[in-house]
Amino acid sequence: MSSQGLKGIKTIRDFELTGKVLFLRLDLNVPIDEGKITDETRITASLPTIKYALEKGAKIVMASHLGRPKTAADKQYSLEPVAKRLSELLGVEVILFDEPKSDAIKPLLVGLKKNQAILLENVRFEPGETKNDTEFAQVLASYSQVYINDAFGASHRAHATISALPELMKEKGIGFLIEKEIQMLDQLLENPGHPYLAIMGGAKVSDKIAVIEKFMDIVDGFIIGGAMAYTFLKAKGLPVGKSLVETEKLNYAREMIARLEARGKTLLLPVDHMVTTDIASGQGQITTGVQIEEGWMGVDIGPQTIRNFEAAIKEAKTIFWNGPMGVFETQAYSRGTFAIAKALAQNPNTKIVGGGDSAAAAEASGFAEKMTHISTGGGASLEYLQGDKLPGLEVVRQRIRA
Ligand code: 3PG
Repeated sequence: MSSQGLKGIKTIRDFELTGKVLFLRLDLNVPIDEGKITDETRITASLPTIKYALEKGAKIVMASHLGRPKTAADKQYSLEPVAKRLSELLGVEVILFDEPKSDAIKPLLVGLKKNQAILLENVRFEPGETKNDTEFAQVLASYSQVYINDAFGASHRAHATISALPELMKEKGIGFLIEKEIQMLDQLLENPGHPYLAIMGGAKVSDKIAVIEKFMDIVDGFIIGGAMAYTFLKAKGLPVGKSLVETEKLNYAREMIARLEARGKTLLLPVDHMVTTDIASGQGQITTGVQIEEGWMGVDIGPQTIRNFEAAIKEAKTIFWNGPMGVFETQAYSRGTFAIAKALAQNPNTKIVGGGDSAAAAEASGFAEKMTHISTGGGASLEYLQGDKLPGLEVVRQRIRA
């Protein structure tokens, strides 16, 4: 296990906050459609830390990115709807401040009342953010006294408000969300209960190789569904029609199958499928076996596969789920993904869902509440689990001299 978890990292509880300016980096990168927030999970997940800081009497400057704007003129990436929602949820006035580099924030901070908090406008409007620019960070540091990172979903980015800024700060740590994320993800890496099952899905094998490699040593078996399963089936010499296949990963898939066999680990692949000739039609049919005919593509796992996967899930003591089993956004192709979510919900043991698509799938299934933990970070959770050091965590870790 290469992760050091939370070792040497202070939390917000460790700081005196009363009357101090707290720079709070959050991941408020939520989906917004025509000015409306369509999933506020990341906002609600940030509330405990913000509320705690408000109760302690800190003067809060919150910061977040939203999407990937090219310039500050990309107004669809404004945090305005988020500021409004935060204000409703917190019951305080959230002042959206769009000049993070101006001195105007200083008098504003002096006069900031207990029922007010500042939210900086999308930090990616400032070119220095993604460049991890020290000059930009120096300006932010000039008006901040304590730095707290609670942006788990962005902690794998070496950006100015995640990396360069805390580098300059003496008093720095993490909030309650990151603390919980790391504690939960560490359950997958440290002394997990067995049988231990990793359920992998989604489109590409290539996105998941590092995680598969990490999990190869610790799990008892893999379930592979979603489009990545067709690469494995093709690697076994089975016809997959026009299903999505990563040709350049066929050798890797062949090798992985052999390595799992050699180690006596289980690999469950689909044995039947929902297939279609035209994905846009929302129509499909179930195959009679594992083979997919020419001209057809797999879009979900079939009923026998669901039964096989459910049986394995029932026995597991630890489950990590990353990636949907099919094109779950289309109702006709969602049965497999939702059945897996239901099977997880019925298992009383530890079941942890990776962020991104899997979190969206768990939400859409209606079983999100039953999971032990659903990560708010897509890329961040995978990078952490595969053993990479997250810049946003390392920069707040106290360096112990040898
Ligand atoms: C995410 O949505 O995974 C995080 O907010 C990070 O966003 P990014 O991939 O644009 O850096």
